[in-house]
Amino acid sequence: MPSTQRSGIENPTPRTIEGPLYVAGAPASEGFARLDDGRDTNGHTLIMHGTVYDAGGKPLPGATVEVWHCDTRGFYSHFDPTGLQAPFNMRRTIIADAKGCYKFQSIVPHGYGVPPGSPTEQLLSALGRHGQRPAHIHFFISADGHRKLTTQINIDGDPLVNDDFAYATRDGLVPAITERTTDEASIKANNLTGPFAEIEFDIHLTALVNGVDNQVNEQRQRAAA
Ligand SMILES: [Fe+2]
Repeated sequence: MPSTQRSGIENPTPRTIEGPLYVAGAPASEGFARLDDGRDTNGHTLIMHGTVYDAGGKPLPGATVEVWHCDTRGFYSHFDPTGLQAPFNMRRTIIADAKGCYKFQSIVPHGYGVPPGSPTEQLLSALGRHGQRPAHIHFFISADGHRKLTTQINIDGDPLVNDDFAYATRDGLVPAITERTTDEASIKANNLTGPFAEIEFDIHLTALVNGVDNQVNEQRQRAAA
């Protein structure tokens, strides 16, 4: 039985892994952010948005949505071996607006794997396993009086969506992705000039447990170099 069930906690928005590539201190803005700098020319534009809800099911203005993902080569800024990405590319902090909504523009990330030839890959190969992950987007969501939520969504349609070597896929974390190819009204409404993909994903936070956020990890203090 999962520990949350043992504790009597329901997680309407499932938790999953953080991964090792979060960097604190991303630029913050209210309501909306553009995550990418437009230099990944293979990128397919993504608009993702939703509402953050409190433990009572009401929209939660002021909630903090930290989001980070990789580019179409599978590289994260700050960990890009080619050095091509500026600091905090595809990393932002969005403060939910007066209606509890967050929204961002970016590109659809691609999947990635452990470095080819690395000891990790060699170990996985010896075990008969691959080291690949489906495309995904990471999130921390936090607000006063609530447990911090660490989660990620997978990009629906990725062939590895149910074969993640890190076992991070969860029911409820593979939202529909809708291609807006000929929908001129929605293209215009998002200040875009061409087709884009859209994901709507609402987030439900849970209350503190006996007044404590048992999810905060003080060891997670990696600052940007
Ligand atoms: Fe990741």
